[in-house]
Amino acid sequence: MSAAGPGAPELSHVAIATPQADALADTLARTLGAVRESEELLDGGALRVVFVRLGAVRFELLEPRDPSHTVAKFIAARGAGLHHVSLEVADLPAALAAAREAGARLIDETPRPGAHGSEVAFLHPKSLGGVLIELCQRIAR
Ligand code: CO
Repeated sequence: MSAAGPGAPELSHVAIATPQADALADTLARTLGAVRESEELLDGGALRVVFVRLGAVRFELLEPRDPSHTVAKFIAARGAGLHHVSLEVADLPAALAAAREAGARLIDETPRPGAHGSEVAFLHPKSLGGVLIELCQRIAR
């Protein structure tokens, strides 16, 4: 695959909200041969994130650790399941500006810290067929 250029986002990961990331990672490994990768805590420890690779797709398992976290509220309201699709872009501020200009509703007006030292911003699902889209940019450190 070619590197993501301006206007050419690539799939970064598909995120699943789950109350038990370890159990889901084990199920994906046993059922489909997924390989467990790294994990980390985000949002001040309120969200545990476990990455699982399955062929060309990386799943991000989102396990809330605090009932006030948005992912905990998501699970309470809708149950576990698909949470967002993340697209890797080369220039996140430019991609956000382009989405805004195209009429999309932004959840994050400016980028914020994501997993693996990335920066992320979410686009509202009401603008995009009911699917929450995360734009992310890897930041060189
Ligand atoms: Co994500």
